[in-house]
Amino acid sequence: MRLRTLRDLEVEGKRVLTRVDYNVPLQDGRVADDTRIRATLPTIAALRKRGARLILCSHLGRPKGQVREDLRLAPVADRLSALLDIDVRYVRDITGDEARTMASQLGPGEVGLLENLRFDPREEQNDPEFARELASLAECYVNDAFGAAHRAHASTAGVAALLPSAAGLLMEREIHALTRVLEADEHPFVLILGGAKISDKIGVIENLSRRADTLLLGGGMANTFLKALGYEVGRSLAEEDRLDEARRLLSLAEQRGIEVVLPSDAVVAPELGAVEQARTVPIDGVGPDDAIFDIGPDTVARFSKVIGDAALVVWNGPMGVFEVPAFREGTRGIGQAVAACPGFTVVGGGDSAAAVEELGLADRIDHVSTGGGATLEFLEGKELPGVQLLMEENG
Ligand code: 3PG
Repeated sequence: MRLRTLRDLEVEGKRVLTRVDYNVPLQDGRVADDTRIRATLPTIAALRKRGARLILCSHLGRPKGQVREDLRLAPVADRLSALLDIDVRYVRDITGDEARTMASQLGPGEVGLLENLRFDPREEQNDPEFARELASLAECYVNDAFGAAHRAHASTAGVAALLPSAAGLLMEREIHALTRVLEADEHPFVLILGGAKISDKIGVIENLSRRADTLLLGGGMANTFLKALGYEVGRSLAEEDRLDEARRLLSLAEQRGIEVVLPSDAVVAPELGAVEQARTVPIDGVGPDDAIFDIGPDTVARFSKVIGDAALVVWNGPMGVFEVPAFREGTRGIGQAVAACPGFTVVGGGDSAAAVEELGLADRIDHVSTGGGATLEFLEGKELPGVQLLMEENG
């Protein structure tokens, strides 16, 4: 199977419906983090250069089929206009008269943006009529929304079958980098997992532990593993109902010959707000009134040594409560080690991607994925509907 790309599509002078993932954080009516918007600029530039008329479409948040004023795409249109230095023609409509007029009036190289797709309940239902309405706005379809590729919605799945379609450059880059991970024969392969819950990462551990050599565990999820091994974790976040699962994953890793490394020290405090009482303790020194909020410096040093020797690194999930400055050093240290690693480095979307952006390390990482759930599902080995529809038999 091969992915159809922009090179396979005749877009010259054509109206191109382009699905992007502009599900970005907003604050005070403005875009607070434009990473996902910037990530689509190469596709937009490539299509404009070829004289295409771009009709961009995206979801934002989860309005559940209702119009919500706070989830309109106006702030996204403003940000995109500023980034492109052109007037992006935003309409407060998806497939109605206003949208059709905008689409028909676009000149070559011009860019329009439809309203939040999820204001229409038919989007998430992958309603065929809604897909037809979207398709009728354009002559071909480009999907650059890797972050939404795990959703079989009208704009990610339904429409792809109705128009000549291809992956955008971001989609192509994501699939290329993440496939390199799935098919990895680069060793040592180091998988770093953090974040709050093991329940989010079980599939990734099961799938990638077939190929990884070392699994480094931090963040809240490490507490569940520590607890499963009999360590005191005090008041730390730990998933009581996942202790057996944690033991099962540890024994799976052992059977597959993977080394699992847990934190050797931690930054603890009685509660998240009590930062003035934060202190570093060895991992067997966590008291019943302590809660773990970050990995400690010894863990950072041990993990960094392993990362420094890796040929391939995949990192998903922060090592501590990154939003609180007192508990961000673990994530910063691991981010710096990943950035300095000479091997191929991938940071899987969501919080860890936001962390490397905020730490100014993103440019030194080979691939920072724009997907959250989509990246995890891809790394679990699942087929993503938005990607499948852009594939065709070889030759
Ligand atoms: C994301 O932010 O992961 C994507 O935009 C998908 O959003 P969803 O989980 O609301 O479908």
